[in-house]
Amino acid sequence: MALYSDKVMDHFRNPRNVGVIEDADGVGEVGNARCGDIMKMYLKIDDGIISDVKFETFGCASAIASSSMATELIKGRPISEALSLTNKAVAEALDGLPAYKMHCSVLAEEAVRLALEDYYARHPMVERTAG
Ligand code: FES
Repeated sequence: MALYSDKVMDHFRNPRNVGVIEDADGVGEVGNARCGDIMKMYLKIDDGIISDVKFETFGCASAIASSSMATELIKGRPISEALSLTNKAVAEALDGLPAYKMHCSVLAEEAVRLALEDYYARHPMVERTAG
């Protein structure tokens, strides 16, 4: 059996939503100290909806595929759904990751959550949504 699913390879080779949002409403950056990979998520939020999302990932194939899939899962969705995004959901949407690569999907979950924390920090008047 191939190490990576077709979906992982597709999102690695043609990652969706790569880039920077200059006037982002929230930015989250995370890294994994062991492998040195870094992921940065940019969110644009309008009326509680993730209207745009972009990412930059300096990392392995699984980290890039996970970032790409995470952006697809939250784009156009309400904040509450983005807050409850789990690394397991990202990995499942990719038709699975090898067990020793699951930590790569954790970066995506954490980057989205940190970007939302940053959004709330920058917009103190916005009422927090439960994830
Ligand atoms: Fe570090 Fe994949 S090996 S995120």
